[in-house]
Amino acid sequence: MTDPRDIGGPQQPLLKVRDLLKHFPIKGKGLPFGGKSAVRAVDGVSFDILKGETLGVVGESGCGKSTTARVLMQLIAQDSGELVFDGETVGSRALPLRQFRRQTQMVFQDSYSSLNPRMTIEDSIAFAPIVHGLASRTAITRARDLLARVGLQPERFAGRYPHELSGGQRQRVNIARALALEPRLVILDEAVSALDKSVEAQVLNLLLDLKQEFGLTYLFISHDLNVVRFISDRVLVMYLGQVVEIGSSDQVFDHPKHPYTRALLQSMPSTDPLQRTEVAPLAGDPPNPINPPSGCRFHTRCAHAQPLCSQRMPLFATDDSGHGVACLRYEPDSGVQFKEQSAVEVSV
Ligand SMILES: Nc1ncnc2c1ncn2[C@@H]1O[C@H](COP(=O)(O)OP(=O)(O)O)[C@@H](O)[C@H]1O
Ligand SMILES: [Mg+2]
Repeated sequence: MTDPRDIGGPQQPLLKVRDLLKHFPIKGKGLPFGGKSAVRAVDGVSFDILKGETLGVVGESGCGKSTTARVLMQLIAQDSGELVFDGETVGSRALPLRQFRRQTQMVFQDSYSSLNPRMTIEDSIAFAPIVHGLASRTAITRARDLLARVGLQPERFAGRYPHELSGGQRQRVNIARALALEPRLVILDEAVSALDKSVEAQVLNLLLDLKQEFGLTYLFISHDLNVVRFISDRVLVMYLGQVVEIGSSDQVFDHPKHPYTRALLQSMPSTDPLQRTEVAPLAGDPPNPINPPSGCRFHTRCAHAQPLCSQRMPLFATDDSGHGVACLRYEPDSGVQFKEQSAVEVSV
């Protein structure tokens, strides 16, 4: 990697996430726990994002993917835990928030609400660089270059307004806007999820090209496992605010360890459009993140659960190949073992 901003060398993770915790307090009458309670959206999350990789994040709706992303972006502050960006603690004197923020950008699912409807597209893209001190003319030139780079001819699109574009074109603008500050890390939160399948494929290929060209690192969040498999080098699986498994794409998709990952994959829709069905990833809903199950949070839906699973929280253990899992069956001393593979992997 030749990025002059690369302080720690290629082996040092671009972002280390340690013990991240974000609870949303909820107040109101009629609630348990004396009316004081919290949604445990992100509940002790640790992982690394390696330089130059695409790390996919999967998990059912509500498991804390977007909250994790918003904390990583420092759009909201964590309750506790630490972010270390290329060796420097985020928010420290060595790496103040403002300096961190320009190196980390985000693209959201909703292409329309991210753009100011009264600003032309080139002004939208040039806005942040101007705020960060770039001369207007230089910023507009950069905006036009980026438009061309994301496949929108500047002479046709620069002066248009968001409502004059299709969803796919708007998402290309959002990607250009995210790149305008020359970030190193781009967080894509369901960034292609609202697009038609053919447009989605084009935007995914664009993201791969841009990553190569600009030496980017991606955190790619999606509920669509096929898309995550296509784009990710490694994959992280979340369940109820925690990381349950992480590994290379091949490890997680071909040799999943956690019963939750297995269940998710079993209900994965086929890539063949004729075979595709709109089934929920898992039977039943995840338990309430306000009062998550004791021990292993998945035990209430796990076909392999044994008494200890409701009592002891599994440790997250990573093997020599970098495949990590939090499940008592992988802890040698726990005594918890796989049941015979059952036809129904998940019970509710
Ligand atoms: N601002 C908020 N206030 C209260 N609860 C929230 C807030 N944002 C998210 N949550 C809750 O936190 C949990 C995780 O949400 P989220 O991070 O959006 O999950 P995901 O992106 O995986 O669908 C959910 O139970 C959600 O309802
Ligand atoms: Mg989300």
